[in-house]
Amino acid sequence: MREPLELQPPLVIAHRGASGYRPEHTLASYRLAIALGADYVEPDLVSTRDGVLVARHESEIGSTTDIAARAELADRLTTKEVDGRVVTGWFTEDLTLAELKTLRAVERLPELRPRNTRYDGRYDVPTFDEVLALVAEESARLGRPIGVYPETKHPSHFAALGLALEEPLLDALARHGMGGPHAPVFLQSFEPGNLQWLRSRTPLPLVQLVAADGRVDLVTATGLRRVASYADAVGVAKDLVLPRHAGTGTIGDPSSLVADAHAAGLLVHVWTLRDENAFLPTGYRRGADPAAIGDSIEETQAFLDAGVDGLFTDHPDTTLEACRLHASSSRLRALR
Ligand code: G3P
Ligand code: CA
Repeated sequence: MREPLELQPPLVIAHRGASGYRPEHTLASYRLAIALGADYVEPDLVSTRDGVLVARHESEIGSTTDIAARAELADRLTTKEVDGRVVTGWFTEDLTLAELKTLRAVERLPELRPRNTRYDGRYDVPTFDEVLALVAEESARLGRPIGVYPETKHPSHFAALGLALEEPLLDALARHGMGGPHAPVFLQSFEPGNLQWLRSRTPLPLVQLVAADGRVDLVTATGLRRVASYADAVGVAKDLVLPRHAGTGTIGDPSSLVADAHAAGLLVHVWTLRDENAFLPTGYRRGADPAAIGDSIEETQAFLDAGVDGLFTDHPDTTLEACRLHASSSRLRALR
């Protein structure tokens, strides 16, 4: 029998590392997230052709590495269907780890994050083992446990290629002493089948991801009770907790999702907080430049008021500061 997870102060989960400041899913991005105080770092995982787990948001790597400029790998450019979508590009499953390691990461959002492009070409694509080694090293150096929050990306796609992600994921965690029920680990996936399989193999907490345009049937009161039979938390797009008004783009009252999830015994983690106007609801933007920094502190506090248990963020320092401010104003209110 799994123990129910205890409610605790909101977790700050560094989404793809501190990806607001460094090219995503690089050791530099994870290292900075840890230095900024994040509780967990979030590697998305895909597989190489030789079955090694590496940190990338999707298996197509044209927009997050310099592969398009590599003549020696030009023959890997291809078009395929991934999770029902036709995608043209270069895919991790068509490269060996040795080939992938010759590539260098680049900023995914250069228009919104031009400062980060100075790091283009400086870092390689880390393996999951390298991420876990970094987390262990930094936990020991800083004297605080830093968690990992891996996501299996395209699990059915990789299983169909004979490159299933789940066994290597659990093996890697076990190798690094993070396979037990009290390890600071959450495993996340959009695919219920993937989580149900993991449930039968690991005591680690599992997180059902739900996108705003995805399996929203899973976040009805009934759906959440079903999710609670195999998962410990839901990781939901932020609009599912604080829906935006269709016309104005401002946020309105919270949905019943947090209350329903808590009633079902599930934690609620929301994604993704980002400082730039481009990602903020209308009321929190400052000026018209999509790349300018808006009032993400206010936005974060609205999610804390709504009762969420964890926050995925590209800017862990902003999110932590919002949490500190929220806690201190709650303490003041309690004294009155
Ligand atoms: O894993 C939570 C959130 O990261 C899901 O969205 O697309 O950024 O992996 P994505
Ligand atoms: Ca993710």
